[in-house]
Amino acid sequence: MAPTSSVALITGATAGIGAAFARDRAAAGMDLILVARDAERLDSMCADLTKEFGVRARPVAADLTTPEGLAAVTAVLAEEPIDLLVNNAGLGLNTSFLKSDVEAEQHLLNLNVVAVMRLTHAALPAMVQRGRGAIVNVSSVAGFAATMPGSTYPASKAWVTSFSEAVGMLVKHRGVRVMALCPGFTRTEFHQRAGIAAGQMPGWVWLRAADVVRQGMRDLRKGKLVSVPSIRYKMAVGALKITPRAVLHRVLPRGAKRMGRTVGDAQ
Ligand SMILES: NC(=O)c1ccc[n+]([C@@H]2O[C@H](COP(=O)([O-])OP(=O)(O)OC[C@H]3O[C@@H](n4cnc5c(N)ncnc54)[C@H](OP(=O)(O)O)[C@@H]3O)[C@@H](O)[C@H]2O)c1
Repeated sequence: MAPTSSVALITGATAGIGAAFARDRAAAGMDLILVARDAERLDSMCADLTKEFGVRARPVAADLTTPEGLAAVTAVLAEEPIDLLVNNAGLGLNTSFLKSDVEAEQHLLNLNVVAVMRLTHAALPAMVQRGRGAIVNVSSVAGFAATMPGSTYPASKAWVTSFSEAVGMLVKHRGVRVMALCPGFTRTEFHQRAGIAAGQMPGWVWLRAADVVRQGMRDLRKGKLVSVPSIRYKMAVGALKITPRAVLHRVLPRGAKRMGRTVGDAQ
């Protein structure tokens, strides 16, 4: 790729929020490096975006839960200056921690936490050296409710938000932005993959992936360290922040029971 073009590397780019990021950045004229496991789906996505927007799009098929997959993407970051890294690939588990397979919990942490840390670590020094660049780590409103009982997912997202804020503060005066993007329920393949019966959720809770990305990119331009798309989820996060933990400990499990699953199992 020509060194003068502006390049975005997006993980989990073949579906949901990652696919919306790929489309949004292609529409903005950025060349793309797209990462996911399904090589065929990646190839067709790259071809479609190149055809529609005239940008270059390079597929990198890699499983970010494996050392080999991480090494492949880290090598790309080492060889090519990246203007925007979107650490988006993530997964949920719809199983109580008491019943879950510990390997599945580890798998979740490998993708939601370890891959985010390693790719940020690989991309950031070159951005700081160049005095420009941005990293968006896709977190979740679930990360603001880390007091919920349940699985590792909300805790992993609390880590993503805290980590992004900390690194963002570290580099913001050096021309580089790092931001946690914290969506609420968004219509994607996430819930189906996690085995969550999303049909139980009322319509008003749902966000569109394209709206999440548009609001996230707007907040990134404003220099925010944490972005929570939509007024309703901003209000929800505000309420979670000021509610005493003792109250949350009583209220959240009751709400979860009504939803028919353990709060924090996913989403
Ligand atoms: N949807 C929501 O309600 C919601 C809410 C808050 C936060 N989020 C967060 O948003 C992010 C994106 O989620 P989404 O809802 O867009 O999910 P999605 O529709 O299920 O898409 C997941 C993407 O990640 C890729 N992926 C999955 N496992 C991977 C692995 N091991 N290595 C590399 N790529 C992998 C998938 O492609 P392959 O299967 O081909 O690898 C796919 O492109 C996640 O971090 C999620 O936690 C989602």
